[in-house]
Amino acid sequence: MSNSSLSAGNIKGLEGVIAGDSSICLIDGQAGKLFYRGYDVNELAEKSSFEEVAFLLLTGLLPTEKELDNFKEELQRARYIPSQILAMIALTPPQTHPMDMIRSIVSALSQHETAEDLKDNSSRSNFRKASHLIAQIPVIIAAFHRLKQGLQPIPPLRKLNLAGNFLYMLTGEEPDQQTSKTFDTCLILHADHSFNASTFTARVTAATLSDLHSGITAAIGCLKGPLHGGANQKVMEMLSEIGALERVEEYIRQMLEAGKKVPGFGHRVYKTEDPRGTVLRKVSKRLGTSQANTKWFEISESVEQTLHKLLREKDKNILNINVDFYSASTYCQLGIPTDLFTAIFAMSRTAGWCAHIKEQHENNRLIRPRANYVGNKDLKFLPIAQRN
Ligand code: COA
Repeated sequence: MSNSSLSAGNIKGLEGVIAGDSSICLIDGQAGKLFYRGYDVNELAEKSSFEEVAFLLLTGLLPTEKELDNFKEELQRARYIPSQILAMIALTPPQTHPMDMIRSIVSALSQHETAEDLKDNSSRSNFRKASHLIAQIPVIIAAFHRLKQGLQPIPPLRKLNLAGNFLYMLTGEEPDQQTSKTFDTCLILHADHSFNASTFTARVTAATLSDLHSGITAAIGCLKGPLHGGANQKVMEMLSEIGALERVEEYIRQMLEAGKKVPGFGHRVYKTEDPRGTVLRKVSKRLGTSQANTKWFEISESVEQTLHKLLREKDKNILNINVDFYSASTYCQLGIPTDLFTAIFAMSRTAGWCAHIKEQHENNRLIRPRANYVGNKDLKFLPIAQRN
């Protein structure tokens, strides 16, 4: 690309830029559809499990029964995290945000891979390391949460799948079938989303031929921001501050007047509703109804309707919900503490991040764009004594 075709106007935020080939995930932003390896995410959410989806993302194929059994076996083994890692988690100051904790612990976990795997970027090695991280991240989140409450971490329960085991290790109670399936659906819906900011971060890191753990550590740091994965926590904080249906309109009006962004709305790629948000709206409503407490769903729904009404009044474009909006009330109704919301996003997205790192390593070229330089040129250097 020549310098003349680069201008700040059309490259800010790299909007619309195609940054590489990938066969992992397709977002049809116009139709509001999302596909993992060619399969509609709605169908996967209904008919498959997070384990199957993780395998699909990593390998490109749905597993056979035997492949799935082997994969689950590998995940179950990796749930037993090294005692040194548990000790590190115990030493983490309790006020540490869970995203900061997992960023550090994931980095440390790399040292518990074999010396060969640590320097091996082959597909087999990346698959192995990916399986470990997919299983380990839920365990470290649950362990940290319990330790900071002065409770002992709970050992994993073999018979439970990844979703059910996480809820069990967090609370000490075995979740019922519906709760476990609901959480599994959330994990499927968050598992990948093409070249979003954190995935791109992971790929840029992998493209230097750095290792999988470095890519995931970088991606976690990127996901944390409130414009990205951090938005689900912000949504719940907003819903809690609103607290009652009658306060919704005043609250949202004030936000808009102050020029603030309403968390959980807007998307760079979708021009219509985010299909994951559509599923999560139903999930949130169903959960609230089954628990005979629809407070958080109702406040959420009212925020959505009120925002649309206020934007129409101002003749502004309608902002649709994104994945984070109804995942907040869903997680809350599942009994998950608000400060864990983004870490749960990371625990699911690790499957997608690893698939992208693997794909990057399989056909690598350094990712190194150029900047449209808008600074000074040819300045005369002044010795320090002459500067004022
Ligand atoms: N609330 C209010 N206004 C919003 C908004 C929101 N959530 N999202 C976008 N807008 C407005 C912007 O202020 C801007 O208005 P303007 O043209 O009058 O200046 C316009 O919509 C375009 O937004 P912009 O920030 O340029 O879009 P983007 O593609 O750069 O950003 C997001 C996309 C997701 C970062 C953005 O919509 C956002 O910040 N949303 C809230 C955070 C969030 O939910 N993130 C999770 C994403 S999955």
